[in-house]
Amino acid sequence: MPTPQYSLPNFLFNALSSTARLYEKLGLSVVSTARPFSFYRKVFFQSRSEAAILADLEDKTVVDIGCGLTPFTENSMFQACHRQGVDFYGVDPKLEKGFKFGVVDSLWSTFTGASKAPRGNMPGRHKAIGAYADQLPFDDGSVDLVLSSWLLFVWIQDPTILAAIFTEFDRVLKPGGRISFYPSMRWQDMTAKYPFLLDVLKQYQSEQQFWTYVRTSSLPFAYTIHLTKNK
Ligand SMILES: C[S@@+](CC[C@H](N)C(=O)[O-])C[C@H]1O[C@@H](n2cnc3c(N)ncnc32)[C@H](O)[C@@H]1O
Repeated sequence: MPTPQYSLPNFLFNALSSTARLYEKLGLSVVSTARPFSFYRKVFFQSRSEAAILADLEDKTVVDIGCGLTPFTENSMFQACHRQGVDFYGVDPKLEKGFKFGVVDSLWSTFTGASKAPRGNMPGRHKAIGAYADQLPFDDGSVDLVLSSWLLFVWIQDPTILAAIFTEFDRVLKPGGRISFYPSMRWQDMTAKYPFLLDVLKQYQSEQQFWTYVRTSSLPFAYTIHLTKNK
């Protein structure tokens, strides 16, 4: 079986994953953040303009897995899609109970690039759904694009849960649909660490992009992985 290569991106990614594991060991819940559309544009859409991305997504269904506080912040992709009438959903189990919008939420949101503190009365609230990534309330073959920023392999590392999540993505995705997630190691190294992915995703073509992105909400060196389901 191939082993993950030593490289600076892998080192940083593994350091990040260890921090997340420590959080779990300490019984702390996953941090909820609110990265802006400018961040999603860069890591998921090759920095294309906001207008071009929204035009492309006009007739598509998009689901943001582990959306955190983004539905409640003005400069998020969730809110931009809502303003433009794009069918965009945010999914996060914490939405079930509702966020408290206290100091901690505000600090994490600002730290990760929100222009204003999160507010509970933002529009489009009905598309912010309380659910887990492996139990999505969407019909089979109904979704065009699954995005996930700062969740998979970072906060969720258990192979059984990851297998269930990618199987669920496959269920809801249309043929030709896409999964894009950030941050990641090289895909070859990720599949060496989690070999089951090759089996669950055998109907998918993979593509990866390496980013150097230095800011508080990103890893300085990391990959975005795009997985496209065969038609
Ligand atoms: C670090 S935040 C990322 C928020 C946003 N995507 C961003 O990039 O700023 C990760 C979010 O994933 C959520 N989460 C944790 N486990 C999850 C699961 N099994 N399914 C979906 N979301 C989950 C957490 O509640 C948290 O709000």
